[in-house]
Amino acid sequence: MPAFLPDAFLAGRSALISGGTSGINLEIAKTLSAFGASVAVFGRDQAKSTAAADAIDAIGGAPALGLVADVRDYKSIHEVASKTAAAFGPLDIVIAGAAGNFPAAAIDISPNGFRAVVEIDLLGTYHLFHASFAYLRKPGASLIAITANQAVRATPFQAHVCAAKAGVNMLVQCLAMEWGPAGIRVNAISPGPIADTEGMARLAPTPDAQARVARAVPLRRYGEKREIGMLAAFLCSDAASYITGSVHNCDGASMHGDATADCLSPTKRAGSPS
Ligand code: COA
Ligand code: NAP
Repeated sequence: MPAFLPDAFLAGRSALISGGTSGINLEIAKTLSAFGASVAVFGRDQAKSTAAADAIDAIGGAPALGLVADVRDYKSIHEVASKTAAAFGPLDIVIAGAAGNFPAAAIDISPNGFRAVVEIDLLGTYHLFHASFAYLRKPGASLIAITANQAVRATPFQAHVCAAKAGVNMLVQCLAMEWGPAGIRVNAISPGPIADTEGMARLAPTPDAQARVARAVPLRRYGEKREIGMLAAFLCSDAASYITGSVHNCDGASMHGDATADCLSPTKRAGSPS
C-alpha cells in the first residue's frame, strides 16, 4: 500500500459490502482489509462469495466473511447486516456496490428488465443502508454507494441504469441530511470506465470499443480498480470526517469527456493533445 497512508488506519473497523464478491467492490474489500478492517462481502452466489472471502484472507488481515443475499430481498439484507455486526461488532463501513447492467435500447427493455436494474441498483442501495441502520456505529459510520456517471449524464442504451443511478445519487444526499445528526456520513463514488471489470466487458466488449472509450476520457485511459479502492478507503477514514452528502468522481474526468473525441482528428482539434 502507498506510504502516504498510515498502516492499519482502519484497524478495528467492521465493513459490509454488497456485490463485494467481484470486480470493483472486491477490490474495495481487499483494500479495506489491507488497511486493517474486518470485511464481510455478499452477492447471490455462495461459491463466488466464499472465493472472494478467501482472496481477502490471502491478504493476511482479519478473517473475512463470505455471505449470500439478494439486495432485492430486504429480509435477507437485514440478516447479512445482523450476522456481520454479530461477528465484527457495530458496522463502521457499509458499501452498496451491487449492480446490474446490460446495454439495450429503451424500446427493447421489457418492464421486467427495467425493474431488475432499478431494483438491484436503487432499491438495493436503500435496502442495504436502511437494514444496516440499527447496526451502525453512531457516531462514526461511513456509508458509500457506488454510482456511475450515467446518474448525471444521459447515455443512449442506458436508460434503465441512468434512471437507477440518478436515484442513488439523490438517496445518498437525502440520507446524509437525515442521518448526519446521528454522526453517520453518506457519500457516493462515481467510477469512470474501469479496466478488467464485468461492467466494461458488457459496455465495451471489443478492442475497438475499448479504444474509443479510452480516447473519450481526458486522461486517455481506463481507470484501475485499485484507484477506486483507495478513494473508498479514504472516505471511510477519519481523514474524511467532514465529508458527507457528496458524489466523488474517480473517472479521469470522463464525466466531462468529449464523447465525440474519437470522431475528430488531432488536426481538427488543433492545440489539444491526442
Ligand atoms: N437486453 C434486454 N433485456 C435484457 C438483457 C439484455 N441484454 N439482459 C437481461 N434482460 C432482461 C431479461 O430479458 C428479463 O426480462 P424478461 O423477464 O421480460 O425477459 C430481465 O432483464 C431480467 O433478467 P433476469 O436474467 O431474469 O434477471 P436477473 O435478476 O437474474 O439478472 C441482470 C439481472 C439482467 C441485471 C443480470 O445481467 C445480472 O445479474 N447482472 C449482474 C452483473 C452485472 O450486471 N455486472 C455489471 C455491473 S455494472
Ligand atoms: P461486477 O463485478 O459485476 O459487480 C457487481 C456485483 O454485484 C457482483 O458481485 C454481483 O454478484 C453483485 N450483484 C448483482 N446483482 C445482485 C443482487 N441482486 N444482489 C446481491 N448482489 C448482486 O461489476 P463491476 O463492473 O465491478 O461494478 C461494480 C460497481 O461499480 C457497480 O455498482 C457498477 O454500477 C459500478 N460502476 C462500474 C464501472 C465499471 O467501469 N465497471 C463504472 C461505473 C460504475 P452476483 O452476480 O454473484 O450476485
